[in-house]
Amino acid sequence: MTLVMAQPPAVEKGPLASSILASSPAKQSTRAMVTNRTVIVSNRVPSPTEKAATAGGLAVALADAATEGSLWFGWSGRRADETSNEAAIALSDEGVTFATIDIAEREYQKFYNGFANGALWPLLHYRTGLLRFNRPDYEAYLAVNRSFAQALVPLLKPGDLIWIHDYQLMTMAAELRALGVKNRIGFFLHVPFVPPSLLQVLPPATQLMAALSACDVIGFQTAGDVAAFLENAVASLGVTPDQNNCYSYDGRQVRVVLTPIGIDAKKFAKLAERAELTPEAARLHESLGDRALVLGVDRLDYSKGLPQRFDAFGRLLYAYPQHRRAVNFLQIAARSRQEVGSYQTLRRELDRRAGDINGEFSDFDWVPLRYMTHPVKRNAIAGFYRRANIGLVTPLRDGMNLVAKEYVAAQDESNPGVLVLSKFAGAADELTEALIVNPFDADEVATAMHQGLIMSLKERRERHASLLAKVRSTTAQRFCEQFLGYLRAPRA
Ligand code: ADP
Ligand code: F6P
Repeated sequence: MTLVMAQPPAVEKGPLASSILASSPAKQSTRAMVTNRTVIVSNRVPSPTEKAATAGGLAVALADAATEGSLWFGWSGRRADETSNEAAIALSDEGVTFATIDIAEREYQKFYNGFANGALWPLLHYRTGLLRFNRPDYEAYLAVNRSFAQALVPLLKPGDLIWIHDYQLMTMAAELRALGVKNRIGFFLHVPFVPPSLLQVLPPATQLMAALSACDVIGFQTAGDVAAFLENAVASLGVTPDQNNCYSYDGRQVRVVLTPIGIDAKKFAKLAERAELTPEAARLHESLGDRALVLGVDRLDYSKGLPQRFDAFGRLLYAYPQHRRAVNFLQIAARSRQEVGSYQTLRRELDRRAGDINGEFSDFDWVPLRYMTHPVKRNAIAGFYRRANIGLVTPLRDGMNLVAKEYVAAQDESNPGVLVLSKFAGAADELTEALIVNPFDADEVATAMHQGLIMSLKERRERHASLLAKVRSTTAQRFCEQFLGYLRAPRA
């Protein structure tokens, strides 16, 4: 690690607003209720100095937890030449301190590309065939988690609530305990959790379960994930959870909770409404004419089911020829983790399939599939959602999937589009009025798209009204308050 400051940081002031954090109304109400300082820890930290679009649900969902006075700690996004061991560098924006450390290039490769995204990510998305495990990667993962803990400790105050996020940092709580940290520690997993038969494929599965049990509260996106985690706790740690999903391990009471993430739906709806006036929206509208739009917005990740989605669109054009020339599919797939082999393979695969579909169905004045791999600004995406007749969200497995919620929030209530949603996205537990599909079945997805394209205005409105009520009630603010409520509560 390259560590720039040895002591608790002197906070630099600067014009540092990230678009995510700027002027959230939810921040005001959360602020009044917070008595302990919240310390958010995540690998990816929204940069207060750069306003570039970031693809990824974590930063979006956590914006509301970053209230005035809180600290957000994580990776700077920089890779350093050498490993060293000092302290984090800090910047502040709207009263939130962002403290970050660099990760040495050699460690980053093994930690991020190796264990986190080469082993844990595929495993937790039920893709054991893509799992690549080796000891040096795992050692680097442990080392980076240790370095995070070492750099955080000097910044901590008694009473701080430490909230660690996601699979990149599963062993950090145990490292903090080893350094003598007594604060309440919570961990939230943004991605799915798997049952013991799958988790045990990973050689250090039991060590990971033990390390996570250094937390006071462990949160998940769905009831299925909670159940899978508890099954693992029983099977690998030999604990006995009570009816409140609490168990004792190593002298500590651990509570396992369900706290699904959401978005600030009202704010997003306003963004979408205003986005109609942006040049990007105007260009999209002009390019479509009166054709219908099917839209996919994802990171370019194999968990998102993009090849299967392309195939389903091909099936739509094949099986329902009335949509030829009458519909366009736009897939925005922001490049992600491009140093990991399976992501490179996916990109080549998508290039090929997009070419196949366009080669088969294009006309001299109509190209059915538009596919782009660079990130798009958040407000432009909001406007695209609003124009889209179908929001196509078909991951093979997803923790929650915020795109589904953003799509619902962005619709014009008087003439809304239709959400086609994979049954394997966490969001499907909640958003039951979407057209729920099995993403592995191209014909089923094609039929759902067809059904959405011909659906009556009345049915679209009814489905959308129910979905919107849900998206409005399970907000990012509620997620943060719920989790922090559990973390603040005395031990069960
Ligand atoms: P994940 O966290 O796996 O990336 P989510 O659907 O939960 O998936 O969150 C994705 C977030 O990133 C959403 O807020 C979405 O708007 C944003 N996003 C996804 N794809 C893109 C893209 N291609 N360009 C810009 N932002 C994107
Ligand atoms: O939501 C899952 C997640 O992995 C987050 O932890 C992360 O911020 C986001 O997706 C994007 O991934 P990455 O940080 O690897 O670009």
